[in-house]
Amino acid sequence: MTERFTGNFTQQEPIPDEGIKAALDVLRHGRLHRYNVAEGEVSKTALLEQEFAALMGAKYALAVASGGYAIATALRAVGVGPGDRVLTNAFTLAPVPGAIASVGAVPVFVGVTEALTIDLADLEQKLAAPDAPKVLLLSHMRGHICDMDRLMAITDAAGVTVIEDCAHTMGARWNGTLSGRHGAMAAYSTQTYKHANSGEGGLLISDDPDLMARAIVLSGSYMLYDRHLAGPPPEAFERVKFVTPNISGRMDNLRAAILRPQLANLFENCAAWNARYRVVEDGLRETPGLTIIERPAKEEYVMSSFQFLLLDWAEEDVLNVVRRCADRGVELKWFGGAEPQGFTSRYDSWRYVDAPAMPATDRVLCGILDLRLPLTFSLDDCALIARIIRDVVLKLYQRVE
Ligand SMILES: Cc1ncc(COP(=O)(O)O)c(C=O)c1O
Repeated sequence: MTERFTGNFTQQEPIPDEGIKAALDVLRHGRLHRYNVAEGEVSKTALLEQEFAALMGAKYALAVASGGYAIATALRAVGVGPGDRVLTNAFTLAPVPGAIASVGAVPVFVGVTEALTIDLADLEQKLAAPDAPKVLLLSHMRGHICDMDRLMAITDAAGVTVIEDCAHTMGARWNGTLSGRHGAMAAYSTQTYKHANSGEGGLLISDDPDLMARAIVLSGSYMLYDRHLAGPPPEAFERVKFVTPNISGRMDNLRAAILRPQLANLFENCAAWNARYRVVEDGLRETPGLTIIERPAKEEYVMSSFQFLLLDWAEEDVLNVVRRCADRGVELKWFGGAEPQGFTSRYDSWRYVDAPAMPATDRVLCGILDLRLPLTFSLDDCALIARIIRDVVLKLYQRVE
């Protein structure tokens, strides 16, 4: 019997009851704007920031309108401006180079390895140039974390500021340190498909008072920054408040209300995602023609999606894998397609950037297949998905029709 999967790859779990109740409270009192508080009230957004800072072990946190906005704010806060060049991953999603472009700066792409992480040799080479960029926007794309000890040694030696894009690594760790705690600032997304769901939303953390004071004013605090519970002391704002533009992108209390109980449950959810990931990984291991991404012992990932490689496969065969899996209810995304589709995207899709060809990176990108693993999937669902992929890949690889 040919097995089929009938689940929905984009169906997230419902918002926890506690979040729905808190959201209803906000709707009933009507004070949705984060600075609109009653006498003695602390806004839900300020509480969220306080809780997120504590969860990440960061001194400061700021909640904003989206992950992309959080990244752009971090870039502005560290001083990136029009014409500046910013290093970033060739394997990432469109909002990442988009955030760089939004501040008038220019992305400089760094290659990807078969481990799906930034190519540190390529990074070192790019940093050896006399006019090397001074900022790296490091995207932990699809939750794959590079050797952060080596990366920080390279960037520290070159005097490069690192901003971490943790849209896919909220709750993950490298060598015991939470993702987002290596760079000067780290940005997270709370858009529906991430590790916490408020529809749209973003979070920014830092230990640096000047960077965070700038970020808070940039986000649209007016002179109400003293209503933040996870912001730097007043003197940090005194240094920046008249010279930092307001580029509004605040989070509102409704989203914060929805997020707080989800974040309180983050680490439990991480374990549930990883259990699903490991079932798919086990089911796909030792499939001829298919390469599993081996994860280093120092990496404690949080995988709400799964990637594997069909390295050096002909385009037609990969397309057949995607089509046959789709026929059996399994949605795979391919990063090698000539045209970007859905959310998939890669460096040569962003034609506003004059990027040189990267053949080694192209080879990896052309082999990447990607699927979501929402928490609405059971472990049995994941085992079935793996069996279907394995069967399709095997038949095509062995040319058994
Ligand atoms: C790797 C990565 N970085 C940043 C973002 C931006 O997040 P948002 O959609 O909240 O702007 C996304 C969103 O898909 C992403 O996948």
